[in-house]
Amino acid sequence: MANIVILIGAPGSGKGTQAKYLVDKYGCRHVAAGNLLREEVKSESEIGLRIKDIMSSGQLVSDDIVNSLMGKVILSLRDNDFLLLDGYPRSVEQAKFVDDTVFRLKNCSVCVIQINVNADSVVERASGRVICEQCKAPYKAGDVERCTVCGCSSLIRRKDDEPGVVRERIKIYNTISSKVIDYYGSRVFNVSGDDLPDNVFQAIDKIVACEFGFLN
Ligand code: AP5
Repeated sequence: MANIVILIGAPGSGKGTQAKYLVDKYGCRHVAAGNLLREEVKSESEIGLRIKDIMSSGQLVSDDIVNSLMGKVILSLRDNDFLLLDGYPRSVEQAKFVDDTVFRLKNCSVCVIQINVNADSVVERASGRVICEQCKAPYKAGDVERCTVCGCSSLIRRKDDEPGVVRERIKIYNTISSKVIDYYGSRVFNVSGDDLPDNVFQAIDKIVACEFGFLN
């Protein structure tokens, strides 16, 4: 049996931060749709050139592009693999695509967790964030001098973390991505993200351990 955790939450809600905890504890494979897409832009691939402006303005990349990148990741799962999806699915079309793809795998369990945060704090969080240039781990600016995950000393700001763009991303989250929560309905576990990261992780960890039968 393979396991997938889907982390859903507004921009700046702490998905990447909680992913670091989950990887640390379970050694799961963390795939963040935003990071995959930023890599395409950085490498100036055909897809990267098509999505560059869309991403820097905070709009969503088309379902076709994102599903084709993420579908390959899901279909590569083998028995006992543990995959963490961060920021995907983000539209109802993507959520349906995930369900269809998981169905093709036959033996796979999915746990959907939403991190809820106060709308005011997310603009502040995202605009005060830096990420590791190499592994993309997020930090509050000034908290660390080098990445605690890979040791890289280059911590950079994301282009879409300007306050105006963050507000646009939140607007899109509230109109499009929130419908994913309605689609999943009772399959969603809700966690408050307005707490210390350690405490948010405790809540997430309880859900994951219970859903997948891991001993804690
Ligand atoms: P993406 O990279 O996925 O960005 P996002 O969803 O907007 O989320 P963020 O990475 O901004 O925030 P996060 O929740 O990971 O928070 P973090 O842990 O860093 O997407 C970017 C773009 O890619 C999209 O706009 C779109 O164009 C495209 N895209 C991506 N996925 C797509 C999809 N599926 N379909 C179409 N397009 C897609 O935390 C933020 C800050 O807060 C950090 O500084 C952190 O240290 C701090 N922090 C975290 N937790 C806490 C806490 N509990 N208390 C205080 N501070 C905290």
